[in-house]
Amino acid sequence: MALSETTRLQYLNALNVTVWQSRFTHESTAPFVESSHVVPTENSIPDSWERLRSEVTSCQLCSLCTTRTQIVFGEGNLNADWLFVGEAPGEHEDEQGLPFVGEAGKLLSEMFRAMQLTREEVFLTNSLKCRPPLNRDPHVDEIKQCRDYLQRQIALIQPKLIIAVGRIAAQTLLETHEKIGNLRGTVHLVENTPLIAIYHPAYLLRSLTEKRKAWQDLQFALQTFKSL
Ligand code: URA
Repeated sequence: MALSETTRLQYLNALNVTVWQSRFTHESTAPFVESSHVVPTENSIPDSWERLRSEVTSCQLCSLCTTRTQIVFGEGNLNADWLFVGEAPGEHEDEQGLPFVGEAGKLLSEMFRAMQLTREEVFLTNSLKCRPPLNRDPHVDEIKQCRDYLQRQIALIQPKLIIAVGRIAAQTLLETHEKIGNLRGTVHLVENTPLIAIYHPAYLLRSLTEKRKAWQDLQFALQTFKSL
């Protein structure tokens, strides 16, 4: 049953949801960029998955188009309640054109299993649709150019809950430079959709001691989802 906007916001209030309003203006290596998304006008053609996918497929907005094998648009349920947003495709994703198919993806699938979710019922995508060479961190201008695609995916899916997988996704979606350690454990709001930030599985693979915190993040996400 769909909740009315007012009821939804009342629930979110009761959950102590943070409406993130940080607006940094200084230069930084962190990926936050001012939002540049287009507000549809009355005469604008409604967006569609076909249109969006074709735009992303032929995208040449940044230099990553010259080094990618192919774009990684995202996959899963187009009407998913859960939207997982990662950082950017890695080597395997770039080869296969699918998100989270490498080692980090395997751990993410384990996380889904722990949450009794399947890859088919969620939607998985990334902040960047093309692989940065040698898996370096995305550059600010790359995130800026790709940001509109992510926002359009969110608008088409209308998920109940967004999970920002890792620092880059969390900072991009929340438009902040805040550390992931400070962003996790709180329900944020992105255009009225609740968002939870979790550690990236690639980080967890390097830092096994953080696995307990990752488990807490998943419990928190499930508990939040149930209360929506
Ligand atoms: N890491 C990500 O953030 N996304 C992928 O698709 C793969 C690895």
